[in-house]
Amino acid sequence: AEKQDLAGRKVLISAGPTVEPIDPVRYLSNHSSGKMGYALANAAAKRGAEVTLVSGPTRLTKPAGVKFIQIQAAAELQETMEKNFSKSDIVIMAAAVSDYHVDQVAPQKIKKNGQDLELHLVSNPDILAGLGQIKKGQILVGFAAETENLLANGNKKLQKKNLDLLVLNDVSRTDIGFNAEDNEVRLLRARREPRLIAKSSKDQIANQIFDEILNLA
Ligand code: C5P
Repeated sequence: AEKQDLAGRKVLISAGPTVEPIDPVRYLSNHSSGKMGYALANAAAKRGAEVTLVSGPTRLTKPAGVKFIQIQAAAELQETMEKNFSKSDIVIMAAAVSDYHVDQVAPQKIKKNGQDLELHLVSNPDILAGLGQIKKGQILVGFAAETENLLANGNKKLQKKNLDLLVLNDVSRTDIGFNAEDNEVRLLRARREPRLIAKSSKDQIANQIFDEILNLA
């Protein structure tokens, strides 16, 4: 049996993509599989935490013993995260949030008419940065996928979003990250040397992230 070192902790995790509607049948989204977020939810539940998993659509099995909330658009994810934030002890944003939503969602299916079509996209709020502004004792964890200047960009996000921990992914590599089975990450904390977690399964990475979180407290 797993050590129950997260017993009594309320853990809120977001996972997967968001889906931004264009019209009743079309949407904008991304290729996030949700694997890292689900691995975190599974690991936390096994270690005794009370887990709420807020997830965009994925092909994954809903983890056992976890409160599951399905969301679609970033606005819905934001509302759900903010509603559950204050009662949480540990909050991890692993969702791949769309940076934009469609300004005027068409109420009916858009018909082709031989012309080009322009969509006006409006910036989505940074949900994680918003949580960083309102946090009161919660441990707040974010992810960053970078292709260059990893540490500099990661440290900037750690600061700007007021995070306790940032999990940094090198997405210029195809053998790890986004849709892969394995991951290799760096854990960034303020005023600390980054810690490399060498390439391993997303389940192992998830457990290492919770080890680090317990070291913060
Ligand atoms: O700034 P960037 O998108 O690289 O930050 C990634 C982190 O911020 C992830 O933890 C992601 O879940 C979160 N995020 C968010 N709201 C957004 C964009 C990203 O919470 N609109």
